[in-house]
Amino acid sequence: MLDPAGAVAVVTGGASGIGRALAARLIAEGARGVVVADLDGAGAARVADELGAAARGVACDAARQDDVAAALALAEEAFGPVDLFCANAGVAVGTDEQDDDAVWDLALDVNVRAHVLAARLLVPGWLARGRGCFLATASAAGLLTQVGSAPYAVSKHAAVAFAEWLAVTYGDRGIQVACLCPMGVDTPLLSGGFADGGSVAADAVRTSGAVLTPDAVARVALDGLRAGRFLLLPHPEVATFERHRTADRDRWLAGMRRLQRGLRTDG
Ligand SMILES: NC(=O)c1ccc[n+]([C@@H]2O[C@H](COP(=O)([O-])OP(=O)(O)OC[C@H]3O[C@@H](n4cnc5c(N)ncnc54)[C@H](O)[C@@H]3O)[C@@H](O)[C@H]2O)c1
Repeated sequence: MLDPAGAVAVVTGGASGIGRALAARLIAEGARGVVVADLDGAGAARVADELGAAARGVACDAARQDDVAAALALAEEAFGPVDLFCANAGVAVGTDEQDDDAVWDLALDVNVRAHVLAARLLVPGWLARGRGCFLATASAAGLLTQVGSAPYAVSKHAAVAFAEWLAVTYGDRGIQVACLCPMGVDTPLLSGGFADGGSVAADAVRTSGAVLTPDAVARVALDGLRAGRFLLLPHPEVATFERHRTADRDRWLAGMRRLQRGLRTDG
């Protein structure tokens, strides 16, 4: 199981929110080195500066394989082979099937394709070394749904599916895989995301449960990695919601429609 002490990690979306908290907790728990990789290169550099000598910041579009390869190379050069990859960058965009292809592409590229291309780069080396750890930040939306945003719900379900597939395929060959599925977390994504979807999606998140701090989520994530669990649930009630969903899908869908009716602004 991953031991954060002495580990070398790359965290995408590390300039803000959950990614920043993951990077900070890794450093606090004795990681050898953490590369903070973010589309916001200045933000990544700022966070790395705050975290000290064991951190580096790099501008990186997690949905571009060359950028991710460069972030991995930086980690390896500065600290050694990457033990932990946190596929955490994500976007909260879109509303429904009427969204432009560009919106769907963005959600799918950042929320799931980025995980595929990172795994493509990492798995061969991890198989050769006999170890490696892939942490996917999906969402409770990937286990349930996202009222108010089809691109988010679909892309996060795909991220969970890919993480499960990695765990099934490589779990016996030394690769640890975990999937972080929070509900609301107090980050700019929740306060400012889903902009073109209006507030329905963000309101659905806020009314469904507690909004946690990024640090609380990072603690749950690292505890879960140490324990070797696949599904990491900072909001434990998500396990119950998922059981309800699979036990009686029609009843669960009726409950989701009730939630949606309560939030609709168009009558
Ligand atoms: N905040 C929540 O309520 C919540 C709930 C469940 C899951 N999540 C997931 O947690 C993850 C982190 O989100 P957050 O809430 O910390 O948001 P955030 O907005 O605080 O941070 C997201 C970071 O990702 C970066 N980013 C966006 N696109 C990128 C790309 N293509 N390449 C590299 N970096 C990119 C942004 O610049 C930003 O720094 C996301 O995957 C999100 O879907 C968030």
